[in-house]
Amino acid sequence: MGFLKFAAKRMLPAVEKEEEKERIVILGSGWGALSALRKCASPNKSIVVVSPRPHFLYTPLLASSSVGTITLRSACEPLRALVESAAGSSHSATFVRADARFIDTKNQTVIATTDSEGTELHLSYDKLVVAVGAMPNTFGIPGVQEHALFLKEAEDSVKLHAKLLNNLEKAVALIRHTKGDTYKKEIERLLKVFVIGGGPTGVELAAEIADFARNDVARRYGDDIADKIQIVLVEAMPRVLGPFEESLANIARDHLIEKGVDVRTATAVTKVDEQSVTLAPSTPRNATAEEKARALSQASVEETGALVWAAGIGARPLVKKLAKSLGQKDMRGLIVDENLKVKGAENVYAIGDAALSGYAPTAQVAAQQGKHIGRAIRDGKNSPFVYNHAGSLCCLGSDNAIAQLLVPSSSSSFPVWEMIGKPVNGSNGDERALTGKPAFVLWRSLYFTKLLSTGSRFSLCADWLKAQINGRNVVEPV
Ligand code: FAD
Ligand code: NAI
Repeated sequence: MGFLKFAAKRMLPAVEKEEEKERIVILGSGWGALSALRKCASPNKSIVVVSPRPHFLYTPLLASSSVGTITLRSACEPLRALVESAAGSSHSATFVRADARFIDTKNQTVIATTDSEGTELHLSYDKLVVAVGAMPNTFGIPGVQEHALFLKEAEDSVKLHAKLLNNLEKAVALIRHTKGDTYKKEIERLLKVFVIGGGPTGVELAAEIADFARNDVARRYGDDIADKIQIVLVEAMPRVLGPFEESLANIARDHLIEKGVDVRTATAVTKVDEQSVTLAPSTPRNATAEEKARALSQASVEETGALVWAAGIGARPLVKKLAKSLGQKDMRGLIVDENLKVKGAENVYAIGDAALSGYAPTAQVAAQQGKHIGRAIRDGKNSPFVYNHAGSLCCLGSDNAIAQLLVPSSSSSFPVWEMIGKPVNGSNGDERALTGKPAFVLWRSLYFTKLLSTGSRFSLCADWLKAQINGRNVVEPV
């Protein structure tokens, strides 16, 4: 009896304390969410991380995983382990695998479903961080959703890898074991890959596929097969890599052409079918109806074995629903104030690709915003977010990349920057450009050191080494 009394005395305050903790709900398991969690986890907070994805995805490695340069083991970190390590011994954070469907800002509750049957969870919050990222934007172009492949999630890269290998095997069977020209067109179709969108995602992917064709297909299937592979990169704007300075973007374009990629700028996709794509000269937004009709009359249809849609991103349904319920007018994301607080809602913050904060949708921005909001929640003090841009990098496959780096203002008199690359055109000397192998080494070193665990670093080293010695993985993922 005495022991029970003692135990009750010991336990009661602890339960009260648990209830007294500030309840933080973080939606998402990506760059923004994880950075926020790591900063705000503390014994006086009760944090629930909600996401349908039970892993953190290291997106910079996605393009290389889709052609077997690396395995997904290196790019995915199990989320539970990350949440536990952020929470430490205070056990102040937990992970719930669920899809947030609705945010009731009046009752400060998130309604999430655990499965497709719609089993509902009601999660109340004192503070909410919306870090659900974005999704591929199809712009309502017919057939994209149904027939295109994407490069946004880990499973997209698995599907793409399987499709490329499957098409390759079918084509090889037809080339080696049929006679005459009966299957000439089908072989051509199977080996023609379209990558739509000449942003960083499309350029990095086209470069990886070209390396795969040139090195691994040639090595394992023969030069005659490798020579038949066509990779077409389609970009609606007059040039690729809009976020980069033009001369650097042109270096990237020329490098892709050298690798055998057919780069078509000022060309827009207007329709996608199961085995074909319709392309037309692109028209500016303010084009007249007549100009648009003329462009459409010049449209052509080309057969394809695989089409990857990397034409940009748009808001997720949850974000659109919340923006609408708050009376926001722009449905591309959640409008936030300078403190990253969602306009029109109390105690709700939005970060990363889900937020319209005036910055590019990059991992760099999402991670910094996550840290900022995590600190603000931990300290109970809002303050304006200031972005610290370090530069941009784009990998161009084996041994090549471009980098546009910002010289830190504190080191303007530090001569080391004089030795790094060349000044970027029109940048007043505060930006340096690096290309070729040095930029590639920088890309690899930077992304290697930024991996989240030693396990991933080992795995990535092994992948890079295996690809160097044995070539890329050509086993179809199951
Ligand atoms: P994400 O990282 O996308 O995370 C969103 C999370 O929310 C996911 O875990 C998702 O499962 C979860 N979620 C989705 N819906 C819900 C829901 N309803 N409820 C709960 N959770 C939900 N940026 C760079 O700076 N450098 C790079 O080299 C780079 N490379 C890239 C390569 C590729 C192939 C891609 C696609 C992007 C790349 N980016 C890069 C961009 C970068 O990945 C994004 O800007 C970044 O992931 C945004 O972070 P986020 O936290 O906002 O969203
Ligand atoms: P993006 O929006 O940067 O590029 C998409 C491209 O597709 C645009 O250039 C657009 O003009 C083009 N496009 C749109 N519709 C088209 C159509 N119908 N036909 C042909 N072309 C069309 O998207 P991306 O590349 O996926 O990048 C998203 C974000 O992720 C960006 O902020 C980017 O900087 C970041 N990212 C950064 C990387 C890096 O730093 N290395 C790598 C990958 C992504």
